[in-house]
Amino acid sequence: MKVQSVGAALLAGVATCAAESFRPIPTLPASIDNGENILPTIMNNSAVDAQAVCPGYKLMHMRETKSGVDARLYLAGKACNVYGTDIDQLQLRVQYQTRDRLSVQIFPANIPEGQEPWYIVNDEQVQRPLDRMPVGPNGSDWEFSYVASPFSFEVKRKSTGDVVFSTSGTKLVFENQFVEWKTSLPSNANIYGLGDIISENFELKGANRTIYAADIGDSPEANLYGAHPFYLDHRYVKVNGKTKGYAHGVYSRNFHGQDILVREGGITWRTIGGSIDLFFFSGPTPAKVTRSYVTEIGKPALPQYWTLGFHQCRWGYANITELDDVVKNYQKFQIPVETIWSDIDYMDQYRDWTVDENTFPQAEFKTFLDGLHAQHLHWVPIVDAAIYVPNPSNGSESYASYDRGHALDVFMKNEDGSEYIGAVWPGFTVFPDWSAPNVQEWWTNEFLAWFKEIPFDGIWLDMNEVSSFCVGSCGSGQVDMNPVHPPFSLPGEKGSIIYSYPEGFNLTNATEAAAAASSSKAQDAYNSKVNPPSTVTTPYYQIPAVTPNVRNINHPPYAINNAQGSHDLAIHAVSPNATHHDGSSDYDVHSLWGFLETKATFEALLKVFPGKRPFLLARSTAPGSGKYTAHWGGDNASTFYYMRKSIQQALNFGLFGIPFFGVDTCGFGGNSDLELCSRWMQLSAFFTFYRNHNIISANSQEAYVWADVASASKTAMSIRYSLLPYFYTLMYHAHKSGSTVLRALSWEFPDDENLINNDYQFMVGGGLMVLPALDQGVTKVTGYFPTDGSTTWYDWYTGAATFSDGKNHTVDAPLGHIPVYVRGGHILPLQAPALTTYQARKNPFEILVALDKSGTASGSVYIDDGESQNVKDALFVALRATKTSLSLNGVSIGNLNNLKSYLTNVATVYVLGVSAKPSAVKVAGSENCQFEYDSQTKKLTIKLPSSFVYSKGKQQITWA
Ligand SMILES: *[C@@H]1O[C@H](CO)[C@@H](O)[C@H](O)[C@H]1NC(C)=O
Ligand SMILES: *[C@@H]1O[C@H](CO)[C@@H](O)[C@H](O)[C@H]1NC(C)=O
Ligand SMILES: *[C@@H]1O[C@H](CO)[C@@H](O)[C@H](O)[C@H]1NC(C)=O
Ligand SMILES: *[C@@H]1O[C@H](CO)[C@@H](O)[C@H](O)[C@H]1NC(C)=O
Repeated sequence: MKVQSVGAALLAGVATCAAESFRPIPTLPASIDNGENILPTIMNNSAVDAQAVCPGYKLMHMRETKSGVDARLYLAGKACNVYGTDIDQLQLRVQYQTRDRLSVQIFPANIPEGQEPWYIVNDEQVQRPLDRMPVGPNGSDWEFSYVASPFSFEVKRKSTGDVVFSTSGTKLVFENQFVEWKTSLPSNANIYGLGDIISENFELKGANRTIYAADIGDSPEANLYGAHPFYLDHRYVKVNGKTKGYAHGVYSRNFHGQDILVREGGITWRTIGGSIDLFFFSGPTPAKVTRSYVTEIGKPALPQYWTLGFHQCRWGYANITELDDVVKNYQKFQIPVETIWSDIDYMDQYRDWTVDENTFPQAEFKTFLDGLHAQHLHWVPIVDAAIYVPNPSNGSESYASYDRGHALDVFMKNEDGSEYIGAVWPGFTVFPDWSAPNVQEWWTNEFLAWFKEIPFDGIWLDMNEVSSFCVGSCGSGQVDMNPVHPPFSLPGEKGSIIYSYPEGFNLTNATEAAAAASSSKAQDAYNSKVNPPSTVTTPYYQIPAVTPNVRNINHPPYAINNAQGSHDLAIHAVSPNATHHDGSSDYDVHSLWGFLETKATFEALLKVFPGKRPFLLARSTAPGSGKYTAHWGGDNASTFYYMRKSIQQALNFGLFGIPFFGVDTCGFGGNSDLELCSRWMQLSAFFTFYRNHNIISANSQEAYVWADVASASKTAMSIRYSLLPYFYTLMYHAHKSGSTVLRALSWEFPDDENLINNDYQFMVGGGLMVLPALDQGVTKVTGYFPTDGSTTWYDWYTGAATFSDGKNHTVDAPLGHIPVYVRGGHILPLQAPALTTYQARKNPFEILVALDKSGTASGSVYIDDGESQNVKDALFVALRATKTSLSLNGVSIGNLNNLKSYLTNVATVYVLGVSAKPSAVKVAGSENCQFEYDSQTKKLTIKLPSSFVYSKGKQQITWA
């Protein structure tokens, strides 16, 4: 969690003013996190336009290579040195890597004498799409062309004749702290992705996309926790009077701080270091683009089956009794719960790999966890990025994890070789350096040792942007003050009582709303008295002029639009000048810290749980994170706005190859209420990762707190748990092919231009559409029912066909009901629900067949033990239906006897869209089956003999 700066505006009531200490330790002054007041270059009207003053480059010495061409680019005039030092010679490398993938690289050819080493992304850290078996220009769907002087290039997709990327008419600017290139966009381009940002619109024209990992509450348009410089461009063209959609993807493999300005007509790319390393994916469907991209960055992990169950979390579960009560309450109200989580409350003074002996005494806690495990329930603790530095002047204090890491030299440094010391929850802290030779050994051993005492089931990685509550190495020479309180007050402390509620609370609960509003006013008055708002405006810091060949990494001449604080890169984060063992500065690798921590933790958990899939949830992500971790949407707030935006976030993380995604359901910051929590518990039930999480001191928001929320949750959870085989099979497909799980309608209906900005409905796989109510006070919701000509939509609840005409329709959505539709042409594997995934897996399977207009449907089900990292035994059954039959075709690996307990019988088949009552239903080679037919809904329900199980080979059910 975080509780400061920009987010404070959203987390109303969480102030950054002077704190009253919650424990008798010194509180850091708020000023310790103040950087310079920086004017982002895009906001600076007098900023020099590099295009106007820089000379561009001239291409020479082009030569063909096995996979494409190489050439030199020479600075075409006098250096402009506008936001850095111009590089006079560049290497251009074009590789036609596969039919659908082109690589265009531009990097310094020779670094002038006396310049610092050039940081280019380390391929061992971040997987690079490789030129394994180049197809060359003739085997490619791409065509690269150029103008020699001033150098510009164009990328065209041959099969459609579409120029997808063109720097024509613009100059390349390539300096040691600033690289700019501009590309044009035709008017039919629609751009998606480029995160981690929550935007006004799903489609990005007009948006500024700044990339720089930041610990910042989910502010709209701000650069959030991760770095994903990838976009999907979806264009619609008329072909013979019909609209066709064509998509391609562009991955800009650069992780320096950057601004990407997406405009009508073109994109401006500005990064403060590294190289140009572009990859083009030709699609032409959105689904194909994502598969190709995700395959190259690292296909997502297959999660353990239980992690698809419901998770309950909050900051503020203060002791074992409270955790136990929460679990028992869920059970008492018969609401599924799979996992209970702990935020930082469990730790001894917020130190990693410890428990507080007063509130979570180790022996008792282990007994509690053993009890959870006996019920097939789970516990996941938070582990923070920062490591407490014990106070050397306090002889009674020790923190062995730090001592071991210090002895193995695994922490980030200052330029003078001393440890870089920032401040996070525990006080002054150091930060692991993922390039230190011993870091993996130390990190793994800390988890191994701790697990022996505290048997956790997964790890939640927070604060890994990497966050620090002060500017620079603020703890250097100060550690004998440790522990220290963060430089802001925590929610619930005086001045930070939470009085905010969701939109419309004043309409549904006027008395409480009025009381809260008046308390909030009183608190604001108190706060402004204690800490009067400054009337002095700080002048902008004048960034020093460029010194040739010298980088100013603390205040780069080009100031990206970093949303944190007053835009200084050093605010609320480890500062750019922190150094790593491999010689890089935080400046160069800042946005990769969380990704590298995730990788290291994945390796550690493979040792903790030999043979099992690690379960991780990480906040800061980068391309390839999906291979290791699930992700949540960060510190949202309890408002309808954030519930609505959760869909956009999920879709974006789908594009980024992290399909295992959810948000803090019912909202993190602020108080939730009955209406919001009811809607949100139902919506999140259709996300892959399903967790309710709350901030400390806000009103409780577990699903059982309100009777109506409990019943709404049960309704939606029973659908989710029925769909678990479907979700798991979708995750399996994502793992195998890089496909998405939660999908935008535009990806599934790529020829329909009406879907460009639709991020208020979504698909789960290809077969299910969710049309949630997202606004306060509504009882109806309007949504679009796309068609590809043969589409039939069926109402999930009745099984009857409904609107299927490519138009908007308004449907009933009273509180407690979430409209869900099954798409004809798809077969969904189901299983009777239960209160835990363990119990659900013991229940009989069901199959839901939804016929399309042509009377066909297909789908699949994947079954394994739900936990093995290297799967030895598995069954995959392809399902295919016609108007009169369902055939199953199973292929397996290993020994299916080992999966016996998961291969329960298939009890029921539902077929939607059967035009007339059949006279008989038969399982091939067996007796007639019982069946029912509803002539109103045209739903056929078949009861299979109890011996019917999924198996290898062919099986068939027919009706006529
Ligand atoms: C986006 O950048 C432009 C400058 O290109 C600026 O004028 C505008 O205010 C920015 N928009 C936002 C929402 O920050
Ligand atoms: C556990 O924490 C709760 C909430 O702070 C408190 O009311 C309760 O007394 C505590 N119980 C124990 C056993 O410490
Ligand atoms: C309720 O609060 C909103 C602001 O959240 C305000 O715009 C609206 O006027 C209020 N309505 C009533 C009836 O007080
Ligand atoms: C009104 O709000 C208060 C505080 O959240 C809550 O205790 C109460 O149950 C609410 N009443 C209704 C009818 O929602």
